[in-house]
This record gives sequence, C-alpha cells and structure tokens, in this order.
Amino acid sequence: MNVILQVNGVTAEVDVSVDTPLLQVLRDRLGLTGTKEGCGVGECGACTVLVDGKPVMSCVTLATRVAGSVETIEGVAAAEPELCRWFADCGASQCGFCTPGQIVHAAALLRQGLPEMTEDLRRELSGNICRCTGYQSIVEAVRATDADGRPARSE
Ligand code: FES
Ligand code: FES
Repeated sequence: MNVILQVNGVTAEVDVSVDTPLLQVLRDRLGLTGTKEGCGVGECGACTVLVDGKPVMSCVTLATRVAGSVETIEGVAAAEPELCRWFADCGASQCGFCTPGQIVHAAALLRQGLPEMTEDLRRELSGNICRCTGYQSIVEAVRATDADGRPARSE
C-alpha cells in the first residue's frame, strides 16, 4: 500500500507492506541511513526518530501508522548544530552507533525544556543505551547545549 510521509520537511510517497517498520523505510527506501538499527525490537533506542516532535523507536513503528511529520538525525543535525558540536566536544560519541538516537532524543528534550535534576535527565534518556561512554559525557553535552543557547529555530 502507498503511504505518504513528511520526512525532514520533504514529502515522500512509498509503497510498503502493512508490517514495514518506519526504520526500514527511512534507511532502505529514502536513503536516510543516519538512523541506526541496533536491537530491532524496541529496546536500545538506536533507531530513535521524532514523530511530531516526540521520540519514537522507528524499528517498532509501522510506517503505515505514522500520521505526523518525521524528523531523523539528518533533520535534527541541520536544525541543532550546537547539540552535535557539544556531543563532539564533550566526547559524548565514541563508537558513534548510539549517537544519532541520543542526539535526536536530546533535541526533543531541549525543545521542551530540560529537567532541572540530572537524575531526571538521565532517566529521560535511559531508553537510549550506550555501551561506550558511561553516559556522563552525554548528559554534559546536553546540558552544555542548553546553557550555551541555541540559534532560534525558523519553524
Ligand atoms: Fe530500535 Fe533498538 S533498533 S530500539
Ligand atoms: Fe558507542 Fe554509544 S558511543 S554505543
């Protein structure tokens, strides 16, 4: 069946099966390979994208059920360059496999306002698993982005 998706502000029409995950459409059909597949079963957060600004795990989201606009790491990186820079500066990305999902999720939190307590921020990001960093540098990068200020968004 045909579905029409809004991805990073661009309309895409794709022919998919009813059980095709959004992740597969993004990577294999639209060439947006920044979104990673880790576990494939909704447990690691590597595949996180935003649907209407809310983080979802695209490996367990059916493309046919997506009604809102989708933002992938490609869109977030363009909109939030300071967040990406702080991830690099803080050493919050090592092997890098979890990084797109971490940045996408962090962008959603920054846009809605970060929790004041670091434990709460850690809890918010706890669905995004990282095997390399120990998480402290990720929290530091998100906090630094918030403190540093970000350019006003045009949308
Ligand atoms: Fe989607 Fe792990 S690949 S949650
Ligand atoms: Fe390697 Fe997070 S940087 S899994």
